[in-house]
Amino acid sequence: VWSVDNDVENQHSCAQIVDAARFLREGAVVAFPTETVYGLGANALSNEAVEKIFTAKGRPSDNPLIVHIGAWDQLSTVASEVPEKGKKLMEAFWPGPLTVILPKTDQVASLVTAGLDSVGVRMPDHPIALALIKEAGVPIAAPSANRSGRPSPTTAAHVLADLDGRVAGVVDGGATGVGVESTVIDVTQDPPMILRPGGITREQMEPVIGCVELDPSFQVGAAEAPRSPGMKYTHYAPEGEMWLVSGKSEKVRAKMEDMLQHAKQHGQKTGVLATEETAPFWQSHTAADVVLVVGSQSDLEVVAQQLYAVLREFDDQEVQYIVGETFPRNGLGMAVMNRLEKAAGGRVLSV
Ligand code: TXA
Ligand code: MG
Repeated sequence: VWSVDNDVENQHSCAQIVDAARFLREGAVVAFPTETVYGLGANALSNEAVEKIFTAKGRPSDNPLIVHIGAWDQLSTVASEVPEKGKKLMEAFWPGPLTVILPKTDQVASLVTAGLDSVGVRMPDHPIALALIKEAGVPIAAPSANRSGRPSPTTAAHVLADLDGRVAGVVDGGATGVGVESTVIDVTQDPPMILRPGGITREQMEPVIGCVELDPSFQVGAAEAPRSPGMKYTHYAPEGEMWLVSGKSEKVRAKMEDMLQHAKQHGQKTGVLATEETAPFWQSHTAADVVLVVGSQSDLEVVAQQLYAVLREFDDQEVQYIVGETFPRNGLGMAVMNRLEKAAGGRVLSV
């Protein structure tokens, strides 16, 4: 573990960064913080290096990785062409939590793109990530640094819990800020299409490039397969069985009480994913063994930041049955609800 201060802005020569970058250059995998979640990095131009990411995570090889660049001049190394709307998005939101799907160059290792002719690229808005990539001197392929199927890591401790002994090292830069992954948008089509909602919202992008489509597989009850290979996997899931309940708050509360009591009668350890608004009720209720607060209904930035840590905490406390409330789907709520629905494996009740 290399511990680095977050003010490395102009200190590429910081000894820990130099050391970690040398590992990356030599083909090892190193976990590092970004503004969204921790990434598991390897040289994106080397199949031999990238293969180690798939092995460490236990990731299916048909799920492509995002390539991270530390400076604008690295873009042409990985992308053969940048459509006009893609350019506008990058100018508006890079560095930041936005991944743009572009036609790839031959230099990108074939394992990175899982055989596709497109590549997802982003410039992360984190001083340590940027310094590390610049120091490594090559674009860095990096999925989230969790074991496949586990919630994404927002601290170095989460990374170690999943991957200790399976990676060369972890650069510890403290907790990440955004908390959910980057938005993935395909600009090889017009209008561009959001393949994964994330840190940059549709509402932020539309004033910049006009109409943005949503992958139809996000509609509730959609029959279509997602266009982004990674979205078809059960992700982000805690080990317990999780249910979401949406509707008017009194009805939601009554339904959750029923569900929790039923689970308890069957001997299960129960948990509630609560908000500041509902926590006082559940904390005084015997049906819930564990009550974890993910933030407030009125501040989704905090909810996004806390979400994965809270899901992991349910696992740490060995909760077997979890009920949670839902959030409005606009703005950052689209990403939050997407991750919650995946955590719940699609178990959503409307009352
Ligand atoms: O915030 C993030 O994006 C984090 C940090 C580490 O940067 N990374 C991340 O990577 O979430 P990962 O591998 O967990 O998710 C990458 C997503 C997957 O859903 C994958 O299918 C999609 O991006 N993706 C990557 N390349 C693609 C491509 N060429 N076409 C379509 N989808 C692609
Ligand atoms: Mg991931």
